[in-house]
Amino acid sequence: MINRDVKTLDEFTIQQLRQFPNATGELSSLLRDIGLAAKRVNVEVNKAGLVDILGDADLVNVQGEDVKKLDVYANQQFAGVLRHGISCAGIGSEEIEDYIGFDDHVSRQSKYIVMFDPLDGSRNIDVNVSIGTIFTVYRRLSPIGSPVSREDFLQPGVRQVAAGYIVYGSSTMMVYATHRGVNGFTLDSSIGEFTLSHPDMQCPAFGRIYSVNHGNYFRYAPGVQAYINRCQRKEAADGGPYTQRYIGSMVSDLHRNLIKGGIFMYPGTTDMPGGKLRLMYECNPFAFIMEVAGGEATDGQQRILEIQPQHLHQRTPLFVGSRGMMAELAACLSQTLPS
Ligand code: AHG
Ligand code: MN
Ligand code: MN
Repeated sequence: MINRDVKTLDEFTIQQLRQFPNATGELSSLLRDIGLAAKRVNVEVNKAGLVDILGDADLVNVQGEDVKKLDVYANQQFAGVLRHGISCAGIGSEEIEDYIGFDDHVSRQSKYIVMFDPLDGSRNIDVNVSIGTIFTVYRRLSPIGSPVSREDFLQPGVRQVAAGYIVYGSSTMMVYATHRGVNGFTLDSSIGEFTLSHPDMQCPAFGRIYSVNHGNYFRYAPGVQAYINRCQRKEAADGGPYTQRYIGSMVSDLHRNLIKGGIFMYPGTTDMPGGKLRLMYECNPFAFIMEVAGGEATDGQQRILEIQPQHLHQRTPLFVGSRGMMAELAACLSQTLPS
């Protein structure tokens, strides 16, 4: 028998809302909208091998990287539900050059803006490996009733109200964090609902997994190399060996590390000193989720969440994971700093 006595995403967010007498329900409605887009994307991801949706869309995104057709589809779905919903005044996306304000009379009254990476790990689509979506929610700074402004989008990560991801994997999950905690919902495809499967997720203080692109080893700074060497030579906190795991979809790599404990690194390299990953819709959301779950996230020097953004698409080196492993990393980085 399937246990039907579990909360759906909607039931959960509405129950959370009841604890705040002044809450308007806009965040629950926003999360429902995101859940709806995720279900639509999930359908397409699942049949990606069957229909002619594979392959490059003959486009490059604003970063100059190839865009797969599913990136375009996912972008349209997330942008569409947010535009039609009542909670979102504007969006920023990896696939859209500048932010977009929704200038209709309903959206102008909305208090949130959302930024997202509609499809993360898209190079993995045509080899059937898990991919994901990442999103973050901020309260707008511009007055309600007016169009959104650039400042609404260029807020440091500490101001996030909520952040989350969807992993389209062996099962599809939506995980989101608010300051109150991190909760994971698995898509029950028999009823088409995300249902609470991972309440109050905590990242273990230590783990065995380190995730990094080893192919770039000789392009990393000495401190990063020293930490990788340490993982290869020393034992993990529980006495066992470290293990290297790198899928190449940060959603999947970080989802696993959040549950099992571990560290994920995308450092700067000699050819890309600022790293590859985008601050606003890749690093900040995961930094927020991991910190709420008890972990840490830095760029090697400062907390990711305290970086004052200058551009919607700016990149940053990223180190994120279990608190104890982040401390070991910090020790390696500081020992090899140029004097
Ligand atoms: P996207 O598909 O949105 O461009 O992001 C891919 C990112 C991230 O998910 C992953 O961790 C990283 O690129 C992998 O990069 P490398 O292949 O350079 O290791
Ligand atoms: Mn991405
Ligand atoms: Mn992407």
